Amino acid sequence: MIQLAVNIDHVATIRQARGESEPDPVAAAAIAELAGAVGIVCHLREDRRHVQDRDVQLLRQTVSTKLDLEMAANDEIIAFAHNLKPELVTLVPEKREELTTEGGLDVASRTSYFHELTKEMQRHSIEVSYFIEPDASQIEAVHFTGAEVVEFHTGTFANARSHAEQRAQLKRLQQAAEVAHHAGLRVTAGHGINYANAHLMKEIPHLHEVSIGHAIISRAVFSGLDTAVRDMIALLK
Ligand code: PXP
Repeated sequence: MIQLAVNIDHVATIRQARGESEPDPVAAAAIAELAGAVGIVCHLREDRRHVQDRDVQLLRQTVSTKLDLEMAANDEIIAFAHNLKPELVTLVPEKREELTTEGGLDVASRTSYFHELTKEMQRHSIEVSYFIEPDASQIEAVHFTGAEVVEFHTGTFANARSHAEQRAQLKRLQQAAEVAHHAGLRVTAGHGINYANAHLMKEIPHLHEVSIGHAIISRAVFSGLDTAVRDMIALLK
């Protein structure tokens, strides 16, 4: 069965819209865990537009499943991660002007740098995941870094405007999953997965986990977070 990690960034987005203390992403994480999430994901962005340092520090103390800190390879955040020691860090590209993470990280163009970064995280007892496009050259580069996990960007699949395009993107993910699995990487995926397309994740071989934020938090506005998480888990079964 594919497991679900819940990204709680957008609970913080709503809080930041008023600059007050609610809704609290730390409370959201507890509800998501009780509903069956196997991990909590949050992205501490350089501009702190949603998740704040305080959130991550409290999540470190309260999350009882697995804390996955999404982050750019930026010196300040790297030092933060070394101190925090989440179970997992997921390295993503980050641009200030983007609304959300656009595209995967180009690991292949800086393999030596990412190899060093991975070793340093592992010396701090942190597992490492890279968020990449489902391309063989990027998978090979992630394998070279010594990371344990790969997360495939599912955005192009999620944005497909025709059935044929969706099937083509699914095939790309299936092939990439085979390559990554044979390289010994744990295979995960995320971005744009929602209640209409999540069932297709079951067609990706070796897929261990998906990371979902926007669709779950959006549905939670109407149904409550507990129901939103349970409904997603049911689709992944
Ligand atoms: N995985 C990664 C690496 C991401 O950057 C994001 C978006 O923050 C997600 C998963 C979740 O994407 P979505 O919010 O579209 O479910």
